[in-house]
Amino acid sequence: MPDSHDVVLRGAQIYDGTGAPPMHGDLAIDGDRIAAIGSVSGTGRSELDAETLALAPGFIDVHTHDDFAAILHPDMAFKLLGGVTTCVVGNCGMGAAPHAAASAMARAFHPNGRLPEWRGYAGYLELLDANPPSVNIGALVGHGTARLSVMGNEARDPDANELEELKAIVAEGLEAGALGFSTGLVYEPSRHAGTDEIVELASAMADSGGLYATHMRDEGRHLLRSVSEAIEIGERASVPVQISHHKAAGRDSWGKVAESLRLIEAAQARGLDVHADQYPYTAGSTILAAVVQNWPEDDAADSGLGKVEPKDVVIASTKEHSEWEGRSLADFVSEFGVSAKQAAARILAEEPLATVVMHTMCEDDVQTVMRHPSTMIGSDGIPSLEGRPHPRLYGTFARVLGRYSRELGLFSLEQAVWRMTGFPSRKFRLRDRGVLRVGALADMVLFDPATVIDVGSYEDPKHPPAGIAHVFVNGRHALLCVVPLARRGSR
Ligand code: ZN
Ligand code: CU
Repeated sequence: MPDSHDVVLRGAQIYDGTGAPPMHGDLAIDGDRIAAIGSVSGTGRSELDAETLALAPGFIDVHTHDDFAAILHPDMAFKLLGGVTTCVVGNCGMGAAPHAAASAMARAFHPNGRLPEWRGYAGYLELLDANPPSVNIGALVGHGTARLSVMGNEARDPDANELEELKAIVAEGLEAGALGFSTGLVYEPSRHAGTDEIVELASAMADSGGLYATHMRDEGRHLLRSVSEAIEIGERASVPVQISHHKAAGRDSWGKVAESLRLIEAAQARGLDVHADQYPYTAGSTILAAVVQNWPEDDAADSGLGKVEPKDVVIASTKEHSEWEGRSLADFVSEFGVSAKQAAARILAEEPLATVVMHTMCEDDVQTVMRHPSTMIGSDGIPSLEGRPHPRLYGTFARVLGRYSRELGLFSLEQAVWRMTGFPSRKFRLRDRGVLRVGALADMVLFDPATVIDVGSYEDPKHPPAGIAHVFVNGRHALLCVVPLARRGSR
């Protein structure tokens, strides 16, 4: 009598997430785990013909800002419909605790959202367990949130007591199950922290396996100095390093990624565990406040965001000026008859929470970074759903599969899948996720390799990609289903 299973997928091209070439076969699910792979003789209570489809582990989005979206928009449709089954939140120094500082920072992305209360990272993760979003969530402890809570926006080193308080916040997060610790050294208040402070705090993770993820101090003229600082922190604190959204920003810095990749290779050769993530676009996105804070005083001055041209900065979301969304800073310069910095400051005065899209990278650099074996995929999507968010929020993974792998031939499909599944799972230590093997959790995506592609544009971003056929999260068929289904990532 052959076995029966909860679900059997028949005849897919199976990409197991390890980078191995695909094999044609079936996959059976029992409960939340994979029960069999290959030729499945039993029947499924539910069967799905996958003959024309690729089957891969669900995509792991290692760089997200979905900390609060997971609570406010638990369907997480903007990720789930793109094949994402796990999101790592708390990047760029912006974490989910302590609550008062976290919810103050959350207002930039969710100006109209009402958040419930929670206590510490433990409280945040418990809240998600009780009200599970449709995708798994893994959290990083945010340095900026901790510093804002302990020291406000003070531009100085912490004193001994403050340092102890900062350490206690990191320790609480790690104890609660956080995957690591992040900084956003271009943002207030993280930018006021020196290297020693970060080494001290990151050292708290030395025995836990947690990693140090960083939005570096300067992604423009001083990109190499910033990469060296990230590597130094990893070496001195004895922790793995994850460089966030690896890029060279600003025309005068294009091409520098060739050297920053060499720095990563050299650190790896010394035995350091250092990698990076990347989103597949030549534009970034951030808060307008950060653009103003980092504005270079003159052409020769430094800016952590790289050299910014007014036409390259486009308003993405506002609270009350939707008519501004989609317009560039250059438009406001001519309308107001002022300098670019003054125009930005004037917009900021009326819209302190505005977000922007910044066209500051070049395609050659995007491809150079993507091709490199140190790079995994992370969207850095900003879930400001009411505005005009950067299309990476919806299309990142489909764009890597469709444009960079299929159309441009940058790497094979199994390489593309590895960079969004097995590789991030290993780096972030997501046990039993990111690979298809018997006994692993059944987070999976079925897509059409001939048609998968991102659909949203900068002008009209809010579209799920084409070619994603089915998504399973923890064994449950989740795609197009907006009821909460999943549990947070296990560690
Ligand atoms: Zn960032
Ligand atoms: Cu980010």
